[in-house]
Amino acid sequence: MFIGVAPLSRICINTTMPTLDWIGKAAVIDCHRGVPCRVLVEDKALSAGDPQTGNLLVEGDNLEALTALLPAYAGKVKCITIDPPYNTGFAGWAYSDKASSAEWLCMIYPRLRLLREFLREDGFIAVSIDDHELSHLDLVMQEIFGAENRIACAPWKAEPSGGKQKGFVRVGHEYLLLYAKGPALTLAREEKPVVGVSFADRWGAYVKGREYLKWGAHSERNDRPDMWFALTAPDGSEVWPIRNDGRQGRWRIGAQHMSALKTLIDPDWMHWEMRPFAKGVTVDGMDKRWVPYEKVRGASRTFGWGSWLDGVGTNADGTAELKAIFGSKVFDTPKPSSLIRWIIGLCPEKDAIVMDSFAGSGTTGHAVLDANDADGGRRAFILVETKAEIASNVAAIRLRRVINGYTRQSGKSGYVAGTGGGFRYCRLSPP
Ligand SMILES: C[S@@+](CC[C@H](N)C(=O)[O-])C[C@H]1O[C@@H](n2cnc3c(N)ncnc32)[C@H](O)[C@@H]1O
Repeated sequence: MFIGVAPLSRICINTTMPTLDWIGKAAVIDCHRGVPCRVLVEDKALSAGDPQTGNLLVEGDNLEALTALLPAYAGKVKCITIDPPYNTGFAGWAYSDKASSAEWLCMIYPRLRLLREFLREDGFIAVSIDDHELSHLDLVMQEIFGAENRIACAPWKAEPSGGKQKGFVRVGHEYLLLYAKGPALTLAREEKPVVGVSFADRWGAYVKGREYLKWGAHSERNDRPDMWFALTAPDGSEVWPIRNDGRQGRWRIGAQHMSALKTLIDPDWMHWEMRPFAKGVTVDGMDKRWVPYEKVRGASRTFGWGSWLDGVGTNADGTAELKAIFGSKVFDTPKPSSLIRWIIGLCPEKDAIVMDSFAGSGTTGHAVLDANDADGGRRAFILVETKAEIASNVAAIRLRRVINGYTRQSGKSGYVAGTGGGFRYCRLSPP
């Protein structure tokens, strides 16, 4: 059955999964398999630093470059981050400034098919996109990567001032569409410093955590009778989970929970405070009672990543970063390297291979170099950029300056020390 018929594309619902169909799709479904094989030829004059790092900047169309790279890198890349032209009418796409969605899909589809073959079983891809092609892209990625492997569509606050006024709503965000290769995906967890009042006990420093008394809905004794039991306070008295309003409540944990068992042996396992009941409430003649809290130890706790990307750099930061390196605007749509650092930070491994086949000004390479410099990692980047003048005059020069160090040409003054590392600059041999 076909629904949502548009002039050039339509959503096809079959019994298993909706897929997107468009004019030209049949011709590109397997076209990545028929690309002539070429080899990479290094241009040493444009390479920089240590050639042994594994970093590559390839000048060429990514369908051909990826085909050349596949034999060596199939199944080896942990993280792919791409920022393809958004098809918004902005120059930057080798084919057309503003193509139909069908043409754009014909461009992206075989490239995504090919990119998937590079991913490790535990790898993932993050695609930057905005509202123009988001819905098409998401359907196509579901088809190629599997709906079950969709990690998130993370909105990224790209223009904090709210973006340019184009309609009734100023759109100030873009997206990162994240897909895993498959169920073996591994991602790092975000570490956040524990904030709160600090205390110390005989085991060392800790921060006061959550109260053990359950609050809000389902917080009465009858809701969970198994969580109504006495703990022992530091003064040896029995403490029952009595709510603020004097009614019988319940703990957040059961009597068999490790924290409860340990506290029954040693009250110091929890943090205790004598807290008043609500105004006018007394229980057994007392207007206050002992309340236990969890003790949180260690400098940081781990969380799953939040999908709302605010504070990871803006488009203006990307432009400022490039201007500081070159002194003038040499590329129109650079991403901030902090956004790519966020993506790289999802990789638990410090030796991950990170690929970007729409490299533009080389932000992904910059972010990888910075990440290695910061933590001593040995991540490697593989970048592909089709426009020779951007690859050689922008990305290669940027990366060389980041590696060797440079004096800021705009913004904050001062010298930025080199990250070290290096890369090989390659072109494709004739077919
Ligand atoms: C939106 S820009 C990427 C900007 C990049 N994220 C940065 O921070 O500089 C897209 C880039 O992809 C390049 N590109 C477009 N089609 C390509 C293709 N078929 N193969 C390789 N690169 C391509 C464009 O020349 C452009 O530089």
